[in-house]
Amino acid sequence: MTGFVDAADILSGRHEDGAEVKVRGWVYTSRSSGGIQFLELRDGTGVIQCTLNKRGVPEETYAYVGKLNLESTIELKGNVKRDERAPGGWELRVNGIGTVYEAQPDYPIVKKEQGLEFLMDNRHLWVREPRLQNVFQLRARFLRAAREYFDLNGYTECHSPSFMTASVEGGGTLFSVDYFERKGVYLSQSWQLYAEAMIATLGKIYTVAPSFRAEPSRTRRHLSEFWHLEVEEPWTDLAGIQATGDRLVCHIANALARDEPEKVRKAGGDPGYLASLEPPFPKIKYDEAVEIVQKKGVEMYWGDDFGYQQEEPLTEQFETPFWVVGFPSGIKPFYHMPDPQRPEVTLSSDLLAPAGYGEIIGGGQRVHDYQQLYQRTIDDGLDPANYAWYMDLRKWGTVPHSGFGLGVERVIMWMLNLEHIRDTIPFPRDMRRVYP
Ligand code: 4AD
Ligand code: MG
Repeated sequence: MTGFVDAADILSGRHEDGAEVKVRGWVYTSRSSGGIQFLELRDGTGVIQCTLNKRGVPEETYAYVGKLNLESTIELKGNVKRDERAPGGWELRVNGIGTVYEAQPDYPIVKKEQGLEFLMDNRHLWVREPRLQNVFQLRARFLRAAREYFDLNGYTECHSPSFMTASVEGGGTLFSVDYFERKGVYLSQSWQLYAEAMIATLGKIYTVAPSFRAEPSRTRRHLSEFWHLEVEEPWTDLAGIQATGDRLVCHIANALARDEPEKVRKAGGDPGYLASLEPPFPKIKYDEAVEIVQKKGVEMYWGDDFGYQQEEPLTEQFETPFWVVGFPSGIKPFYHMPDPQRPEVTLSSDLLAPAGYGEIIGGGQRVHDYQQLYQRTIDDGLDPANYAWYMDLRKWGTVPHSGFGLGVERVIMWMLNLEHIRDTIPFPRDMRRVYP
């Protein structure tokens, strides 16, 4: 057979009631009742109910389809029918079948409660589940919206290597790799250092790429490999880069709400809330944030970084994401520019999502002066020789510049109200799992 249509198009009413079409997909559920065989067919765009009437198809066909194991793949021909009883309000009344690839019996993923470990061991099959399918489709829509924003605003997409010889975000979370005979090669924590080189040739740039962190923490929001959406802009200060973050996050949230309200609702998100977000997000100083946390009775001293325990009470205060501005230099990497008015803090800023979701963006203004950067490197206990090429950028054509990194999985998790970061990515990697 040729000329197949998508389940999603049938469900959105794109094909007239009664039209004859062909579909193909995986048998997600199968049951019979009163001389009718019901198949739910999953095809990559959605799930469509298909019915075979015992009197409408040859007897062998009816019997054959009824005996097919779950996850067999099948081609079906029939008439599209509006039917309120069908999930999604439409079904296909089947009058013929094409090629079939029969699945083995005993598909491991069943409807009854199955333990998380079992499901994770079978993630390669579990990804077919419509709840996950829905999130992965939204993830793709999320990235499309992000790229739309960059296209509309004059940014160029730009890539950097994953093998690196220096840390960006501190040595504590570096993954070492065997790189031929060479020692001291690591997986990238961030494209940032290369981005600072590339703004001198491309101007405003962005990337979407994996970043790697050897996070020893087992939390609901840490991955050891996550997708990092990063931005770098020449001639931009801290306020300027925050404004970019505001507009980007709102553009994505609004696009999901406008184009996929049903899917957002199905995943657990609130399209009304996402549609209501608009720039700018509120800003508070690091100092105020510490006071808020202390007032809530949670231990924190000026100079400490926020852990989950500190972020939770802080993010409860807000309905929208908000910026925490001006972190002490002791808890931020060497590249952050000290505040000229107050050198003990940096021109850095994190965007925190409400309701306990916490940090979704980290960034700020970079040191653009050679001497100052040299000193910051020493103060941070790093070897400037290891950053020689990065320092060169301050010798030839330096300019105030800023950027940030946004954790794709973190933002999806918050936008869809998901419990755990693993639900946002097909094959999550964390300290316990690199399989499948
Ligand atoms: O705050 P981070 O470490 O900042 C940087 O890497 C900067 N060099 C980015 C830049 O300025 N270009 O990471 C940025 C964001 C965090 O706010 C968080 O959303 C996400 O990346 N992130 C993680 N997401 C999931 N799992 C992890 N282990 C993450 N670590 C960081
Ligand atoms: Mg951070």
